[in-house]
Amino acid sequence: MKARAHRPLTNAEKKALVAAAGRARRHASAPYSRFRVGAALLAEDGRLFSGCNVESASYGLTVCAERTAVFKALSEGVRNFRAVAVVTAADEPTAPCGACRQVLWDQCRDIDVVMQTTGGRRVESRLAALLPYPFEFGGPK
Ligand code: THU
Repeated sequence: MKARAHRPLTNAEKKALVAAAGRARRHASAPYSRFRVGAALLAEDGRLFSGCNVESASYGLTVCAERTAVFKALSEGVRNFRAVAVVTAADEPTAPCGACRQVLWDQCRDIDVVMQTTGGRRVESRLAALLPYPFEFGGPK
């Protein structure tokens, strides 16, 4: 996977990304934790792919919002991404969990990460800052 030039997000792009994540959050299926999460990925071609968390009665089968968004985009044939947004109603912005950081790295490499609360608090980072020294391997020899 070749690293692409970093194109900083415009304010309009951030707004659209966060809005998509916020809309997806409303579809969260979180009867066990009651912690609803929405995520959205911005593809290089400008398309947005959103996702929500989906919990299972067998708790460990739960899928986070970020991975839902990644799997939706990949299954639509989209491979190149610029940014991900995560929206929750927590007091402070919520960062992607460790498993999602790895999956985001696998598929998106060093994208922008926008974390925002429904109350309007925002933290911005980059995936490489959230996941230093990531796991990678070139596949079987
Ligand atoms: N969750 C996400 O959707 N994304 C994260 O990055 C952290 C956790 C979900 C999983 C579970 O449904 C709920 O939040 C509580 O852990």
